[in-house]
Amino acid sequence: MPDTARVLLELGRIDTFFPVLSSLGNRWAAARPFEGLTIGLHLHLTTLTATVVRELTLGGGRWICSAANPATTDPSVVAFLRDLGVEVYSGGGIEDGLEATVDADPTFFADVGFALGSRLVAAGRRPRAGVEITRSGITRLRAGPPLPFPVLNINDGRLKPGIENRHGVGEGLWQSYTALTGCHLAGRRVLVIGYGAVGAGVAAYARAGGASVEVMDVDPVRRLIAHYDGFPTPPPLDAVRRAKVMVTAGGVKHSLPLALLREANDGTVLINAGHGADEIDIEGLEAEADCVDQVGPRVVGYRLPGGPQLMVLAGGNPLNIVMNSGSQEPVLLHFAVMGLALEWLTRHHCAPGEVALPPELEAIAAEVALAVLG
Ligand SMILES: NC(=O)c1ccc[n+]([C@@H]2O[C@H](COP(=O)([O-])OP(=O)(O)OC[C@H]3O[C@@H](n4cnc5c(N)ncnc54)[C@H](O)[C@@H]3O)[C@@H](O)[C@H]2O)c1
Repeated sequence: MPDTARVLLELGRIDTFFPVLSSLGNRWAAARPFEGLTIGLHLHLTTLTATVVRELTLGGGRWICSAANPATTDPSVVAFLRDLGVEVYSGGGIEDGLEATVDADPTFFADVGFALGSRLVAAGRRPRAGVEITRSGITRLRAGPPLPFPVLNINDGRLKPGIENRHGVGEGLWQSYTALTGCHLAGRRVLVIGYGAVGAGVAAYARAGGASVEVMDVDPVRRLIAHYDGFPTPPPLDAVRRAKVMVTAGGVKHSLPLALLREANDGTVLINAGHGADEIDIEGLEAEADCVDQVGPRVVGYRLPGGPQLMVLAGGNPLNIVMNSGSQEPVLLHFAVMGLALEWLTRHHCAPGEVALPPELEAIAAEVALAVLG
């Protein structure tokens, strides 16, 4: 049975502690920018999505939404959105929902993974414009044929790396580490591999928790920045031999290769904060280990012959995502920018192709966030 009362309670909590979207909802209710328009959405149907869609519908228009992934679809959110008058396609397969949204011939759309956008292209539809919110969607649209309509890239703004990648992951990752291991960070020797926005956040939050942190990066410029941030950047072998917790944040395959894993301390915890599940060479560990133990929920120990036992958390998948941990504020900020981008598109005509995020949209979202944060 859908539990829309639970959804309402969660939305109430969000409105109480971080009311960025309800502030924007007042703006959309007053201006009604979507009146007479049809907007197609292809999103993960979570309570965070419900927060932004509820506010957007105050701006008028017909809203049609297909679920991006059955695993991330909350049936109570589906029921809640339907009560608001949103046409939601979540049963059946993802393709059925996409087809129904394409058939509605939306004027504008917002998408994850460029799944809806690519179907609109293939069906010969010509929306006035769309918004893509993910890195994977931007990669996909760039790899495809020339776009017959404009798509605003909201992934590559300043807020996402500055807040979501850095603070969202940094905070959430260590909450998950403690939840799975029961360990404190204080006094732990942590090695962060990859010092981009994600790695810098992971390192900073580890230090704030009392860990002693070192950094590895293939890019000397990033190593120098880490140095000035106060993190030693020793040669990889030295760093690995000192660490008791290692975190990959490079976004590349095998940034923690088997050759280095053989040199690690016994009991070292291995965590991925980047992308996919191949940053730590788990295949190598599986092939070489003479003993593999389920040490705890989502904790697997690999004993290398004559070497260390290494504790892999969450199968090497991005830990904060698997554990759904950390503050929701960065995601809500990203959704605020998505809503402002849809509003902006109703007033501006762009040429077909990828469109860079107008800086003023992030400035508005930041002003609203600063106001609600006091
Ligand atoms: N866990 C999450 O919730 C989450 C959120 C946002 C982004 N990400 C992912 O995290 C990854 C990093 O994101 P970012 O914004 O920091 O990217 P970034 O490109 O700014 O930083 C990556 C850093 O890793 C370094 N690097 C690359 N290969 C390396 C190697 N073999 N050894 C050591 N360092 C290496 C690069 O030089 C760079 O400094 C990406 O894959 C991104 O998709 C994860």
